[in-house]
Amino acid sequence: MHITFHESTKTFHLYNDDISYIMTIMRNGHLGQLYFGERIRDKEDFSYLLETCERPMTSYIYENDRTFSLEHIRQEYPVFGTTDYRQSAVEIQQENGSRICDFQYLGHTLSEGKPLLPGLPATYTEHEEEALTLTVTLKDAVTNVKAELLYTIFAKGGILTRSVRFVNEGTHPVMLTRAMSLCLDLPDHDYVWQQLSGCWARECHIHNRRLEPGILSIGSMRGNSSHEHNPFLVLKRQSTTERQGEAIGFSLIYSGNFRIQAEVDAHDTLRILAGIDPETFTWKLDCKETFQTPEAVMVYTCRGLNHMSQTFHKLYQKRLARGYWRDRPRPILNNNWEATYFDFTQESLLAIASKAKESGVELFVLDDGWFGARNSEHAGLGDWKANRTRLPDGIAGLSKQIEALGLKFGLWFEPEMVNKDSDFYRQHPDWILKTPDRNQSHGRYQYVLDFSRMEVVDAIYEQVSAILREAKISYIKWDMNRSITECYSSAWPADRQGEIYHRYILGVYDLYDRLTKEFPQVLFESCASGGGRFDPGMLYYAPQGWISDNSDAIERLKIQYGTSMCYPISSMGTHVSVIPNHQVFRNTPLHTRANTAYFGTFGYELDLNKLTPEEIEEVNAQIAFMKKYRNILQFGTFYRLLSPFEGNEIAWMVVSEDLKTALVGWYRVLNCINARYTRLRLEGLNPAYCYRNSQSGICCYGDELMYAGMITSDETAGQVPSGVTPYTDFESRIYILEAAEA
Ligand code: GLA
Repeated sequence: MHITFHESTKTFHLYNDDISYIMTIMRNGHLGQLYFGERIRDKEDFSYLLETCERPMTSYIYENDRTFSLEHIRQEYPVFGTTDYRQSAVEIQQENGSRICDFQYLGHTLSEGKPLLPGLPATYTEHEEEALTLTVTLKDAVTNVKAELLYTIFAKGGILTRSVRFVNEGTHPVMLTRAMSLCLDLPDHDYVWQQLSGCWARECHIHNRRLEPGILSIGSMRGNSSHEHNPFLVLKRQSTTERQGEAIGFSLIYSGNFRIQAEVDAHDTLRILAGIDPETFTWKLDCKETFQTPEAVMVYTCRGLNHMSQTFHKLYQKRLARGYWRDRPRPILNNNWEATYFDFTQESLLAIASKAKESGVELFVLDDGWFGARNSEHAGLGDWKANRTRLPDGIAGLSKQIEALGLKFGLWFEPEMVNKDSDFYRQHPDWILKTPDRNQSHGRYQYVLDFSRMEVVDAIYEQVSAILREAKISYIKWDMNRSITECYSSAWPADRQGEIYHRYILGVYDLYDRLTKEFPQVLFESCASGGGRFDPGMLYYAPQGWISDNSDAIERLKIQYGTSMCYPISSMGTHVSVIPNHQVFRNTPLHTRANTAYFGTFGYELDLNKLTPEEIEEVNAQIAFMKKYRNILQFGTFYRLLSPFEGNEIAWMVVSEDLKTALVGWYRVLNCINARYTRLRLEGLNPAYCYRNSQSGICCYGDELMYAGMITSDETAGQVPSGVTPYTDFESRIYILEAAEA
């Protein structure tokens, strides 16, 4: 990995074995973008890549030069309102009302490793030789505002991270009205744009669109990253598949309002912008103050989508997630939510937990309803003290009893919210986000606490940490069940109201930071009505997240498949739940529910007391299987094989680090009669290892399995031989492939 600066051509070249990123200081002092893609050889002069030609209709910077207009030059961090009519990366409103600025190169520094971003989640290094960071400082001479562009290239993989730090060295405050984390101007727009979108209980579905002239964007203005759009984008070539071809993934390490957009201009160049949503953001930058944007990550590959995803998985698993649980297989849990909802007592919880223990579950999680007057959605949020009518021994007592059963104990919180019917709200009615003289909209009868105020965060910290200190708690599910509306904080002046959405998220990060530091061994699982805030920002604090409230195995295939585009298997909360399923009322076989949930953190969201002895036997075997293979399932190399968005059969697989074990998940939505012969071409195996197939007993070399394929046809297509159980809809299998000892 290298970062070189060629003085004679004023060109930066950041490269490792996989990628090159090249930019230059242009003659107007701005940074021009020359290249991002597969690694190319370093040399002194790449200036030919800065294409400028005389255009009939354009504005020119220099009087006698009709070629140099920012309108058609690819730039690194374009400003608003000069000769570039595309959307800018930065816009600063000054005291006289002007929004023009001119960020010119001032200097640059190189450092080993990667600096932390104060108050914000970001990828990190553990050893300095893992990455190099280039900071290019630009300055606007009129306002004396500096923009420091941070670029980190990692030694391994096609990864480049970006963020920007603004410093006001002037004598007047300025207003940042747009401060994107990343701009990438690409020389053509011949890409398919792929986004992960959906809504509550239908998160992260894959959508592909062609890029045409104009702007295409995804984003959130809800205060969280949202169910609707994940802060993630892929640009892939028409011919790119999971196995081959070019792709660039863009991921924003942020949990609040964001925007990722593409703009195709008249000359078919493509501008990608990613960062905090400009529409819901302004930031007053006083003299001497700094503002740090969130980090954006770009991954380039020429080896297909699986390779792009694996690069993200490894980075986010090892160098974004942190702490005790980062590298540890996750405990198999039993959560009581779908088993009881609000209808439970101490005894009924203990009955669920003891049964779970018998089957080998390791962690019992008490979900919503344990605190205050929380007998329904209408009351209690904000009062984080046990409801003694339900739980006579309190959380400390219950947690001891659960531990006495031989289980760990986990607890649900929704720290950012209050119900009006709560003591906390009655004491602090002014601590919610609300706009004076306007209606306050609720979501699920709850209101959003003003986390832009430190005293509010402190008060919640006191309550949550008190319970964590007094009880034996090993896991926290941190929920966030509504979006923000009428966003306004009475603690801040009028000219800072545009900061509240961002300050809110900074408050959330601050609380996470304090709790994870004080209780380093507690496993945090993030949640926001399922996947409403499943994003890289959360992964920095909580190494796993509940990706959807939809627990139906078939629905989950799409959700997990889509989520895997960016996020590692170890980060996805996945549970087996009852049938008929509570969201889509579908009946799926127990083995299919488990076969889907294995590709995640795994657990049960039901009362095992309600299962038949045969089903319990199956559950016991599932848990034993998961314990044996979870290290590979959660931390192995994951490959998508057949997409649920394209057909009736779905498949994916993981391969262990030593390539000796592979687990293939195969799923078929609807059964069919007299079906065709099917085979699955596997990935990532050692061609020379001979793998024994647990289903067929056949041994095949890795190359056979990858090139000829593994047979998945049913032996019952057409006729059901006696003694064979017929297949039904929602069928699935796990194929275990173990290499014979060498
Ligand atoms: C959200 C979560 C669920 C559950 C409920 C409790 O919807 O996503 O898993 O915790 O809240 O109210």
